[in-house]
Amino acid sequence: MRIAMVGSGYVGLVAGACFADLGHQVVIVDNDEAKLEALKNGQVPIHEQFLPELLSRHRGKGLEFSSNLQEAVQASEVIFVAVGTPQTESGEADLSFVESVAREISGALDGYKVIVEKSTVPVYTSEWVRKVILQNGTDPGCFDVASNPEFLREGTGVTDFLFPDRIVIGCDSERSAEVLRKVYAPMTDGSYYKSAGAIPRPDRASLPPLLLVTSSKSAELIKHASNSFLAMKISFINAVASICESVGADVNQVCQGVGSDSRIGRRFLNPGIGYGGSCFPKDVLAFRAVARECGYDFRLLDEVMHINEEQRTRFLRKVRSALWTLRGKNLGVLGLAFKGGTDDIRESPALFLIQALLQEGCHITAYDPAAMKRAEEVMQTEIRQSKIKFAASAYEAANGADALLILTEWDEFAHLDLDRLNQVLKYPIVIDGRNLYDSEVMSAHGFTYYSVGRAVSHPDGVPSTVLRNGAKRA
Ligand code: UGA
Repeated sequence: MRIAMVGSGYVGLVAGACFADLGHQVVIVDNDEAKLEALKNGQVPIHEQFLPELLSRHRGKGLEFSSNLQEAVQASEVIFVAVGTPQTESGEADLSFVESVAREISGALDGYKVIVEKSTVPVYTSEWVRKVILQNGTDPGCFDVASNPEFLREGTGVTDFLFPDRIVIGCDSERSAEVLRKVYAPMTDGSYYKSAGAIPRPDRASLPPLLLVTSSKSAELIKHASNSFLAMKISFINAVASICESVGADVNQVCQGVGSDSRIGRRFLNPGIGYGGSCFPKDVLAFRAVARECGYDFRLLDEVMHINEEQRTRFLRKVRSALWTLRGKNLGVLGLAFKGGTDDIRESPALFLIQALLQEGCHITAYDPAAMKRAEEVMQTEIRQSKIKFAASAYEAANGADALLILTEWDEFAHLDLDRLNQVLKYPIVIDGRNLYDSEVMSAHGFTYYSVGRAVSHPDGVPSTVLRNGAKRA
């Protein structure tokens, strides 16, 4: 099929490259000429597993880049819209980019096309897109608007796209449903997975993916409800973690017990310093606003957001309780990205905590396998003031530090050489906001170890004021 993908952000770029891998002819449209040039020259603007392979496999063949929306629309049977929907002051999604793209598309329509929302948008957006296109005097028979929400996660976007649990196509006409069925046919009929060079199947994937055909409104709600539910799951377990801390229970054991109920499931039940990123915070707030507008007071979502914010404050209290005063303390920090496997720092709880600790007068040496460049860009002032510097490895970040903080769940941080870490730290104190380690293993390696929803563990049961070699902290 001939497909136009409007927008080359995380979703647009990954989805465009994956559609090309399914055998479609794709043109990705963006108005950022510099970005297009970089993509044409083989650069990959985001840290995403398998994306470099797919781009180099299809660039200039099944995958093209263009700034000419009109040409792309005319050359395509399906136009996916994956432009940004930033948050407004009031928490609603700003749909002005979607609207202006819809207007431009309407001016270019020259035969039946399906216009598909891929960005996360509030319910009723497809109706608005339809109205905008009709306002331009377009023949109603010459287009359909559909909603096809994307459930990929950053960092694992390519495999999430190609091996999803479900594909949701929200179509209000059989004609548009047929077009979208054809787009996804290589996945739903399984032919893609048998093809040579297909991206390797992740362990968890059940094939072929389920295709759900719904109304466009249901599809729009599925996306907001899914993200809000996952955020709720995280906040729920974070609240349970707080209770565990109060009573001396172990949240990991509780998670295992709760998550083993197949109706609940173990995934997205990891406690920590709260969710971040460009999706959950924005989508929960937007869904709250959508609900209000539709006449439902969705207060549960307020609590989800409240627990998420509180989780960071609780962590700061933990750092204080571990180190007493903060002014002048040297902290090693592992993690800047909002989660492991990505270079994205948007709404990163790690950055929020770093900023708060710098405010308190700490000096920080931070390390992240992928997000340091982006963090450096936004922390120019703090770098100039010598409040923060960046290290080339986890051990360098820990070197001489009063304590080590783990703020992002990178796999690499869960496999550190603990003896080496203990040697380089000034004091063997680890404050883990992601529960990457077993408390007993940490205490056996001589650490005082703070985590989320578990008791503080001390070096082989020795109280925390007694440090390495029996020395008391000055
Ligand atoms: C999320 C959803 O998982 C995707 O399904 C969705 O398509 C995407 O948003 C989107 O709307 O575009 P993403 O933002 O990439 O994907 O990140 P997640 O892997 O969901 O993690 C979000 C945050 O929750 C991270 O800060 C992560 O550290 C945190 N998290 C996740 C936890 O604190 N605990 C968990 O158990 C899982």
